[in-house]
Amino acid sequence: MSDYYQGKTAIITGGASGVGRSIAFGLGRAGANVVIGDVDTNAMAAVTADLAAEQISHRIEHCDVTSAESLQALLDAALETFNEVDIVFANAGIGAGEAGPIWGFSEKDWQWCFNVNLWGAVNSINVFMPYLVTRPDRTHIVITGSGNGAYMVLPDVPIYTATKAAVHSITENLHYQVQMGGLPVVVSALFPGPHVVETGLFNSGRVRPEEFDKGVSGNETGINSVEDMKRMAEEYGFDLKTTHPDEVAEMALAGLPNGDFWLLAHTDESKAKIQRRADMIINKTTPIPESVG
Ligand SMILES: NC(=O)c1ccc[n+]([C@@H]2O[C@H](COP(=O)([O-])OP(=O)(O)OC[C@H]3O[C@@H](n4cnc5c(N)ncnc54)[C@H](O)[C@@H]3O)[C@@H](O)[C@H]2O)c1
Repeated sequence: MSDYYQGKTAIITGGASGVGRSIAFGLGRAGANVVIGDVDTNAMAAVTADLAAEQISHRIEHCDVTSAESLQALLDAALETFNEVDIVFANAGIGAGEAGPIWGFSEKDWQWCFNVNLWGAVNSINVFMPYLVTRPDRTHIVITGSGNGAYMVLPDVPIYTATKAAVHSITENLHYQVQMGGLPVVVSALFPGPHVVETGLFNSGRVRPEEFDKGVSGNETGINSVEDMKRMAEEYGFDLKTTHPDEVAEMALAGLPNGDFWLLAHTDESKAKIQRRADMIINKTTPIPESVG
């Protein structure tokens, strides 16, 4: 990685907490300017103070990725302060907290999750790509997907999985277009992991807008944190492994200088799951669910 990030400017959506926050610190410590767009005002205040304490050059803006105008304002703010933008992390995402049979899900869950996870990625591509392709130097757009959707279908969160399946198709297509066009933008697909990452994703309800309120407080699953997941896993007799978001940031930032498309940490277990899925499709065997852990 060495001095690759020195003096570069990066925009990170959803950078006030979790994976995005760790990426912001990883970049900042490597000498980059960081611009964060997020909707969680408490987390934004905390990250502002913490970045300042480390003397990391930053700008934090309220930005809702479901709005292209809001993303455009974020880009304008970044350019106003730092003149250029070299790297974009389209990272904001939520878990809708869906539970029970698919046919019983609240439409509000479908709409909110597609709005943030899918439209957030589409809006980010629409706003940032026209700028990035004008830069003479190599630039990056990193889109946060999920293995759950991109290359496997974990049971129990079908809305989330569907959004991330769509996000991955779009990311891979963007890569092909950029490659075929000979454009100097590196497209990367970031997969936080290899295990469940210790972030606020399971408590996304904290930023659920009023228009998507479904009249339930907390998640119907009863899982509102990684700790809840661990407890539930214990009840089912297995030990849920987790990953710290700093590890995800480290993995992602190690991949960009090489121009890697797959920012993905494998384990023997995750490779076996992908292998089983490929075998199942080739052999046309009946799908059986894989476990989250
Ligand atoms: N945690 C995991 O295990 C895991 C696994 C695979 C993928 N991911 C993906 O990683 C990304 C980051 O999530 P995380 O796990 O760090 O969770 P997180 O909740 O800690 O961080 C997500 C951030 O996105 C922000 N956000 C939510 N809605 C927004 C909106 N409309 N506009 C702007 N910002 C918004 C939140 O305020 C939060 O700061 C997401 O795309 C998520 O789907 C996470």
